[in-house]
Amino acid sequence: MSDKPDKLITDDGLRLDGRRADEIRPMKIEIGVLSRADGSCYLEWGRNKILVGVFGPREAHPRRLQRADTAVIRYRYNMASFSVEDRARPGPSRRSIEISKVSREAFEPVIMAELFPKTAIDIFVEILQADAGTRTAAINASSIALADAGIPMKGLVTSCAFGKVDGQIVLDLNKEEDNYGEADFPVAMTQDGEITLLQMDGHLTPEEIKKGLELIKKGCKEILEIQQTVLRKKFETPVEEPEAKAEETEIEAEETEPSLEYAPEAAVVEEVIEEAEELEEELSEETTEAGAVTETVPEAEELEEIVKEAEAEVVDGEAIEEAIEAEAEEEAEEETEEEAEEEAEEEAEEEAEEEAEEEAEEEAEEEAEEEAEEEAKGPWKVVKDPSESGSRGENDE
Ligand code: CDP
Repeated sequence: MSDKPDKLITDDGLRLDGRRADEIRPMKIEIGVLSRADGSCYLEWGRNKILVGVFGPREAHPRRLQRADTAVIRYRYNMASFSVEDRARPGPSRRSIEISKVSREAFEPVIMAELFPKTAIDIFVEILQADAGTRTAAINASSIALADAGIPMKGLVTSCAFGKVDGQIVLDLNKEEDNYGEADFPVAMTQDGEITLLQMDGHLTPEEIKKGLELIKKGCKEILEIQQTVLRKKFETPVEEPEAKAEETEIEAEETEPSLEYAPEAAVVEEVIEEAEELEEELSEETTEAGAVTETVPEAEELEEIVKEAEAEVVDGEAIEEAIEAEAEEEAEEETEEEAEEEAEEEAEEEAEEEAEEEAEEEAEEEAEEEAEEEAKGPWKVVKDPSESGSRGENDE
């Protein structure tokens, strides 16, 4: 542990990390960092690093813990052994059990547990790096993780501590202030200002507590704004169209476009049209040039004829295109007719099958009825005329 600094607050009223008495440490929040949790949050507050996973509401195990009227809320605060300067002993300690209990109680008034009887809502807090104020930081992170999990709550819970350092009341103690300060006073409150956690370590006068609580109100208001901002950012961001869907649309669009691969005749027609157009252009240029020299040149007449022929070819090309289109339409119609016929045939077959089945069922029923009647008459009545049948009857005796 580092030695106690001479002063925790400098002459100009600033603390060792440069903050004023009423300022909180910078806070950074990420939501939904654990894919297996229903809700999660990673929070950095000063040098504190905290991970929270929320699971539930889910069936409570062991079953003897289930409550018929409400969900059971469980909160487990755990310090990683590497989270502090001296190695923290793994497993629950007196301190971690106490923090888990008071933190659970900080959430009980806001979580609408009565909506989920027989279930459990589990909040797991892992302190990855501790630097004073871990219980308050964990409560702030848990609040977000619970909201991320969609657990119905009356509001968010925010938490912050004040303390006494060098005789002064300051907000949100850092590690040095916590170690060498005179008092530490963590508080959690709902967004309506109801206090759900209040602890005190050290000595404070009623005036100092009053002053400290004013600082807490300011600090919690700032934290609430940060929490609300990150939650809004996550849940108000418009959902983007999945990429796969966009690709599908593109493929569909490509398929609906007419493709030359599937219509070779159309390609031929287009080639003919293009050639004819090129020829027409060439000829018109030549004609213009020739016309500029003399109008009575006989070759010009020949050229005109060639132009007409080319134009006719273009017209033919268009006609072929139209014919192909018409043919395609006819084919489509025929296909539709064929499909309709096939459907009608299938329907008729199905109907015939159904009728046959019904008939078979009726016959079977009738037979069964007859048999039942005969059985009811008794075995001696089965043989109507013993002389006819030759079997044993009353008359044989
Ligand atoms: O963390 P918080 O202020 O809520 O609880 P604390 O019991 O007042 O502990 C203050 C700080 O002491 C923790 O944040 C840790 O940085 C440190 N600590 C430690 O170094 N080793 C422990 N076993 C427990 C706490």
